[in-house]
Amino acid sequence: MKTAVIGLQWGDEGKGKFVTYMSRFHDCVVRYSGGSNAGHTVTFPDYKIVHHLLPSADVFKGKRMYIGPGVAIDLEVLVKEIEEIDGIVQGARNLLRISKQAQIVTSFHKKLDAKIESRRIHRIGTTRKGIGPCYAGKAFRTGLRLEDLEYPDMALKRLKESLLVWNEDDSIAEKMMEEMIEYYLKVEDLTVDSLSAVRSLRDKDLLFEGTQAVLLDIDAGTYPFVTSTNCSSTGIHAGFGFPVALDRILGVFKAYTTRVGEGPFPTEIYGDEAHELRQRGGEYGATTGRPRRCGWLDLPLLRYAIEISGCNGLAMTKADILSGIEKIPVCVAYKINGSLYECVEHLRNLEAVEPVYEYVDGWKSVESKQFEKFLFKIEKWLNAGVNYISKGPYVEDITIR
Ligand code: GDP
Ligand code: IMO
Ligand code: MG
Repeated sequence: MKTAVIGLQWGDEGKGKFVTYMSRFHDCVVRYSGGSNAGHTVTFPDYKIVHHLLPSADVFKGKRMYIGPGVAIDLEVLVKEIEEIDGIVQGARNLLRISKQAQIVTSFHKKLDAKIESRRIHRIGTTRKGIGPCYAGKAFRTGLRLEDLEYPDMALKRLKESLLVWNEDDSIAEKMMEEMIEYYLKVEDLTVDSLSAVRSLRDKDLLFEGTQAVLLDIDAGTYPFVTSTNCSSTGIHAGFGFPVALDRILGVFKAYTTRVGEGPFPTEIYGDEAHELRQRGGEYGATTGRPRRCGWLDLPLLRYAIEISGCNGLAMTKADILSGIEKIPVCVAYKINGSLYECVEHLRNLEAVEPVYEYVDGWKSVESKQFEKFLFKIEKWLNAGVNYISKGPYVEDITIR
């Protein structure tokens, strides 16, 4: 069985926690995109684990993890995370393998990320984790891959070249290389060639863990306010390094919407209303600590994301956060030039759309009949079943419908 879990909004839908739950039905969780811009918080009664680079596998149950060649690796973050997880479950590091063909995020990429942001007229509001510059380096073919660190002299030459390409002083290259090698040696025993990883994994039950979300996908999302990879389902083949046939593409969405960084957000709310929802939902970035922009559920965008990602199963999270609100606004259509649209064909001019809301009766508890009614409505509006519901922050709060 091959399953993918992807976000259907602008990230932070609760993918990580859902992946931990789903990993129990698979052999290995594969990360195929993004880097430490991702922040997936997984809460157990005794532990809270925030994954940035490590796949959100349930290591308590011995589930394996693989970081594919499509991931941008900040070695410092990786080493720290491995040490953390190994401190929680002794020997967990041995469940991990990392593709030698994955790109390395250098300190220079992070510096450049901040510099480019400061020079933009329309800022993207990146996480400043060096993601864009790292993937640009890959496209420029000046980037370093993990395997390059096996040959430090050659790697140093490439690093100097990459600095010169960006018009930077290359005198820092030796120091940068020293640091990278120091971290690399701590994970070298976990690195494998993509082909040997694929050989050992292709016949296993694999769960592909999406980072970011469809609306942040570099092609399908709200370009240019997106990340630098195909973080939707379309990136799986390249990011894993093998053309897998997916049995299921499960899309995760929150019962409301959030966004970090800049870009259009038709159902965004402001002021006290936004503050209240942010506080209720704890909507602060797991990676940067930034307050997340908040708004109501946006069905036209959700329909777009479901369709363009080929999603064939749904998981809804965080409805418990809305408990106690009397009337829940749900955007069921957009008004564009006087006409109503239930789905959008593209994401251009989202700034200009006018959301049309229906106000659904709220519920006191997610265990109530009233909440079931809300769910049925959403399913009717989406013309699709919601297969999994998460009713609280813990992994065990997920139920199958
Ligand atoms: P991800 O990036 O998609 O993995 O999501 P994040 O981990 O960045 O953000 C989701 C946050 O909501 C995390 O702190 C989760 O622990 C939490 N969470 C996930 N699902 C639920 C839920 O159903 N209810 C509540 N209250 N919290 C949830
Ligand atoms: P997870 O996996 C939410 C956003 C940034 C910015 C844009 C580009 O936890 O859902 P980047 O650093 O990638 O160049 O930033 O994308 N962004 C995320 N927003 N959740 C994430 O990851 C994100 N990763 C990037 O805020 O708007
Ligand atoms: Mg997140």
